[in-house]
Amino acid sequence: MKTVLITGCSSGFGLETARYFLDRDWQVVATMRTPRDDVMRRSERLRVLALDVTNPDSIRQAVQAAGPIDALVNNAGIGMLGALEGTSMQVAREVFETNTFGTIAMTQAVLPQFRERKAGVIVNVTSSVTLKSLPLLSVYTASKAAINAFTESLALELQPFNVRVSLVLPGRAPETSFGANARSRMQGNSPEAYAAFAQSVFAGMGQPSLITRALDVAEAVWRAVNDASCPVRVAAGADAVALAESC
Ligand SMILES: NC(=O)c1ccc[n+]([C@@H]2O[C@H](COP(=O)([O-])OP(=O)(O)OC[C@H]3O[C@@H](n4cnc5c(N)ncnc54)[C@H](OP(=O)(O)O)[C@@H]3O)[C@@H](O)[C@H]2O)c1
Repeated sequence: MKTVLITGCSSGFGLETARYFLDRDWQVVATMRTPRDDVMRRSERLRVLALDVTNPDSIRQAVQAAGPIDALVNNAGIGMLGALEGTSMQVAREVFETNTFGTIAMTQAVLPQFRERKAGVIVNVTSSVTLKSLPLLSVYTASKAAINAFTESLALELQPFNVRVSLVLPGRAPETSFGANARSRMQGNSPEAYAAFAQSVFAGMGQPSLITRALDVAEAVWRAVNDASCPVRVAAGADAVALAESC
């Protein structure tokens, strides 16, 4: 039986992906900053472990406690929506610490076992905003675009060891708490000069015709892990697929 370790399983895509793998007979190590055992059905094949991807001790302990794994899904991420002028460097660094360095650190932590076994898959969840840029998302987009480039280079480096590295690029998912979290990170910091522009951008985000569901992301991650012939980049969600086809 195969084992997947997924980061950021307390909600949204990570939670749905953990459920998806659990329903398909995988052993799931569902990691969360604050472990909860009430978000998923109980199962002998489920372990919930504490993991903060910005904390090296937490990474070491979680990877050690997980034991041998077959797949790593770097899903944990934070958003940030707002004008760059209103973004402190502290917030910009927080976004990169989680989305970029957290993903790199988790990858480093599992690579020795994958390389030695000559087997393993790493899936990095980035975003369709890296395919077509949107305003007020410069820092977030940069944090995810860096992981696209990281993944595509690493995929080549790990080919000799039979370790696959893939990207899942979700579109916009209003059903997760991601958007609200992203907005709260910027509260009160938007410079007045950007207010009218920001209002028009937010208004335009109101009712998208195509969206991404958490299930779309779980399916895309499943495919990236289980289908060795799938491309390095997999778009997830109707909006992301349409965008990828138009690029
Ligand atoms: N929703 C969208 O529209 C969208 C679109 C494209 C890409 N994405 C990407 O998809 C991924 C999942 O997003 P989502 O929509 O499912 O959002 P979400 O519901 O807010 O889930 C994000 C998860 O990441 C976790 N997390 C945050 N910081 C962490 C850290 N330092 N260490 C470990 N876990 C951490 C959160 O845990 P806590 O509960 O502890 O905060 C939460 O479980 C993210 O990488 C995001 O950038 C989202």
